[in-house]
This record gives sequence, structure tokens and C-alpha cells, in this order.
Amino acid sequence: MGDAPRHMTPEEFRRHGHATIDWVASYLERLERFPVLSSVRPGAVRAALPVSPPEQAESIDAILADVERVILPGITHWQAPSFFAYFPANASPPAILGELVSAGLGVQGMSWATSPACTELETHVLDWLADAMALPETFTSRGPGGGVIQDTASSATLCALLAARDRATDGRATVTGVPAGLVAYTSAQAHSSVMKDVGVAGIGRENLREIDTDEAYAMRPAALAAAIDTDRAAGRTPFFVTATVGTTSSTAVDPVRAIGEVCRARGVWLHVDAALAGNAAICPEFRWLLDGLELADSYCVNPHKWLLTNFDCDCFYVVDRRALLRALSILPEYLRTEAGASGAVIDYRDWQVPLGRRFRSLKLWFVMRAYGLDGLRRHIRHSVRLATTFASWVGDDQRFEVVAPVPLNTVCFRLRGEDARNERLLAGLNASGALYLTHTRLHDRYVLRLAVGGPYTEERHVADAWQHIREQADAVG
Ligand SMILES: Cc1ncc(COP(=O)(O)O)c(C=O)c1O
Repeated sequence: MGDAPRHMTPEEFRRHGHATIDWVASYLERLERFPVLSSVRPGAVRAALPVSPPEQAESIDAILADVERVILPGITHWQAPSFFAYFPANASPPAILGELVSAGLGVQGMSWATSPACTELETHVLDWLADAMALPETFTSRGPGGGVIQDTASSATLCALLAARDRATDGRATVTGVPAGLVAYTSAQAHSSVMKDVGVAGIGRENLREIDTDEAYAMRPAALAAAIDTDRAAGRTPFFVTATVGTTSSTAVDPVRAIGEVCRARGVWLHVDAALAGNAAICPEFRWLLDGLELADSYCVNPHKWLLTNFDCDCFYVVDRRALLRALSILPEYLRTEAGASGAVIDYRDWQVPLGRRFRSLKLWFVMRAYGLDGLRRHIRHSVRLATTFASWVGDDQRFEVVAPVPLNTVCFRLRGEDARNERLLAGLNASGALYLTHTRLHDRYVLRLAVGGPYTEERHVADAWQHIREQADAVG
């Protein structure tokens, strides 16, 4: 009674640590052997777990055995080379090691003083990334702006929205409550997180205008301008636009420059969500995606999607950090530090909604150093080449149609004809366990998506996928 628990000795930790890394390495070796999409029934994983936690300590060996026995069957294998669903969620070995070091250090990076390296590495690596992607200089820490790592693009957009809300109301929205009449805009193809964030920020979901898109699913800037002007004429306060570079459904690219000009002329905050596609800017040939970004107030890209860095790692940049700080900083006595008071350091807790923060920049640093920019560019180019090859195969088969441009890694396609055939096609493919695809709706048609970008996907996996798709198409008639 009252004694401290028995912790592992460093020697025991070393032994179990090696065994755990061995288990992860063996998992990565076996990736192609599992059905990509887990087929467990709802409740099956819980049914295999004891009702209550153990009263007495269990061995790590026993726990690892249950990872294999209970957890693995309930895993959808996002790292499998035939995972083509949603978007890639890269977890490369260097990122895993960076994450391990972060857990080993176990620091809370809420203030500079709570671990100076946690803050300074983050600032530095985000400048590295901004420079490597040729982002506008104004997004770096060398001026009044800078970058910060958020958990997700959803949170980055929320922070941008809160800063814009604060700016548009001269601080009132933050201090006394959100006044009526604020209106936000995005395209009808934007990610659902924008709608969610508008609700969370107290703007009201019905005050988000979903602007019409063109035949390539990109926002129409003239329609945006007209919507803003109509709202303003009606006495409302347009304050925030989210443009998307690489929409979730089809990788459509909103014209950032034209949208930026609309926003600048009307004093509206422009946030650019490039969660997936922004990663491609590591390659000079894809930087056209971000043309006009210097007209934006904030920007985000997720290395946790397609830049070999495991979840969570969203890089969020602002041109003017003061708006963000005014919306989000709060300073109770127990968080005061001498360094913070000096104004010489960044306290990243003021750049995000939660107080606590993980040492996420370590994994990005490991990745950038272990691959080098050259390796990162190869990953992006390899994915784009495979997607383009797949699109050409689909285009050559009369039974199918490619239904959206393929600027990067995602191919939207369907069997010509009824939606029901396509639904059966997708269900049959995913039930096979050989690959995993997901669907969307474009122009109210059911569409299959094949998103390339996993770290281990090779041309043979994409060729196998195409073979399965053709065979399954025969089966659905
Ligand atoms: C364009 C875009 N924005 C936002 C998101 C949401 O990403 P996160 O999970 O980082 O919030 C996605 C993910 O699919 C996306 O494609």
C-alpha cells in the first residue's frame, strides 16, 4: 500500500523496445499479406477484449501477442501498397522513429520555456518547409508571420477562421461574443471541415455560402465576388473565404490568384486549404498549384497525408501572427514565464485552440533529413506518375470514363451507365481484400476514386488494381 508502482528498468525498456520495433518492422514486411480493408463485424474487436482491465501487471510480450491476435484483424491497412482509398496517410520509417523520440522525451511544448527545443525546432522546420515549397516569404518566421504545426487541417482552418473573425470585429467576437451578420464563403467542393468549423466558431452553418464551381470542379471567382457583394449590399459582413487547392473529391484546384484578388479588393481574409495537394509544391513543376498564394492571409498543408510524415502533422502558416494571437492568446498567472514576457520567444499555445502540444516537429525533421528534399520530390513524382498511368489505362477502356482532370495523385472514374453498377463494382472490389478504393459524387454521379501516394505503392500494385477492376467490371455486367 502506498508504494510507487514498479517501472521498467532502462534495460527492460531496451529489450521490450527492440521487440516492439521488431514487431512494427515485421508488420511492414507483411503488409501485402493482409486484406486491405478490415472485414471484422461491428463489436468483434471489443468482444475479444476482457470486460475489465487487469488488476495485476501483464507482460509486454502478452500485450504484443494481443496486438497480433486482437488488434490486427481490426485494422484497415493504410500503409498497404494497395490502399487507394480516401487519401494517403504516409507513415514512413523515419517518421515513426521521430515519433518514438518525441514519446521518449515526453515533453509538453505549450510554451517556449517548457522545452525551448520543441518551439525552436518547429519554427525552424516550418521555415525549411516553406522555403522548400517556395511559399511566399511572408509565411516564414522572418517577418510578422510564421508557421505552426496543428493536429489537422480542420484545426488550421478553425484557427484561421477565429483570427479572421477577430480581425473583422476588431476583437469583439472574441471578447463579447460573435455579432450577427458575419458571412463566410467556400466552394461547393470544399472539405466538410470548413462547414464544421463555421459552426464551431459560432458563425452559424447557414452563414457559409457554398460558391458554385466550374466544369473542373474549381470555384468560380466571379460567383464569389457576386456573393460577397450581394451580402454586403444587404448589410451583412463578409469576412472569410476558404479556397481549396486539391479538393477531397477530385483534387480540383481553385484559382487562388483570382480569388485572392476578389478578397483583397473587399478586405476579406483568404485561407487556402491545400491539405493534400500542397505537398506537391515540394516539386517546382507543381508550384503552379499555389499561384497567387501571396494574396492569402493563411495557408495549410498536411505532410501527414502525402509527405511521408505520420499523422498528425498539419503545417499552418499565417502572414500576420498578431491576428491569430489576439484571437487565441490567454495568460493566466500559472503560465507566465520570463521568456514569454520578454517578447523574444514564441509561445505556440497561443497559435492553437488547446493548451498542450506534442513535439511534432521531430518527426517532420527526421523525414526531411532522412529523405532529403530530393527523396521527398521522388515520392511525389512517383505517385503522380502512377496515377497518370492508371488514368491512361482507364481512358483506353471503352467501358469506363475518367470524370475529372487528374492534376496529381487521384483518379476519379466510373463504369459508363448507372450508379448501381458502380456501387456493385466498388463493393465487390473492397470485399475481395486485394485493394481498397472509396467513392464520391461528382455532378450527382457516383464515382470511384483511386488515390495513389502510399510509401510502398509500386507500379505493379496499380497494375494489379486495374486488373481487379476490369475483372470485377465483367462480374457486375
Ligand atoms: C482538402 C482537404 N481539407 C481538409 C481535410 C481534412 O483533413 P484533416 O483530417 O487534417 O482535418 C482533407 C482530408 O481529406 C482534405 O482533403
